[in-house]
Amino acid sequence: MSTEDKEFDGIKQADNEMPYWWKLFFVLAIFFAIGYSIYFFGFSKWRNADHFRTEVAEHEKKFPKKQFQKNQDGSNPLRGNAEAIAAGAKTFKNICATCHGAEAKGDQGIGPNLTDSEWIHGDYDDAIFTTIMEGIKQENTKLGKGAMPAHKDSIGEEGIYQIMAWIAEKNPSLKKVK
Ligand code: HEC
Repeated sequence: MSTEDKEFDGIKQADNEMPYWWKLFFVLAIFFAIGYSIYFFGFSKWRNADHFRTEVAEHEKKFPKKQFQKNQDGSNPLRGNAEAIAAGAKTFKNICATCHGAEAKGDQGIGPNLTDSEWIHGDYDDAIFTTIMEGIKQENTKLGKGAMPAHKDSIGEEGIYQIMAWIAEKNPSLKKVK
């Protein structure tokens, strides 16, 4: 059946050529789509990843990350800070208590007592800061009860100073400086 004969409800369907402007527009649209894709993925800064990067950069400019302020002499800046002591107690119970005991008394039989006046790796803030940050390697251990893991990545500087504030509160023999 030729389309010219198509009739329904008294309406006849014609078979005219598409107008020239319409076809031209169609072809131009295809070229535009190709060009646009090349521009978008190759050269524009309009992609999600770019947006994300600019927004993060703007946010960081507006709210700069606070650098933890350390003391020149290596002493613990959080000594005596009640909030820090409470936070340090919590971290200690979560992470250190398995080896040093919940109250740091060494009652687990692995890590030594941290509340007495005997210190084997230094009795001042900077020394125990290094011990906790870096851990104690097998070859540097003195008690022969195993090594102590490093905590610089799992806890970080501020968290370690909080723990030290808690220890200092329980143990007056921990000196500020050497
Ligand atoms: C896997 C067990 C283990 C864990 C977990 C652990 N320690 Fe230790 N720690 C040890 C051992 C063992 C020693 C003693 C090493 C040696 O023989 O010299 C030690 C030593 C120390 C010392 C030195 C004590 C001194 O007398 O000089 C400090 C301070 C200390 N630990 C603090 C911590 C803190 C704070 C944490 C938690 C962030 C922690 N430790 C987690 C096992 C551990």
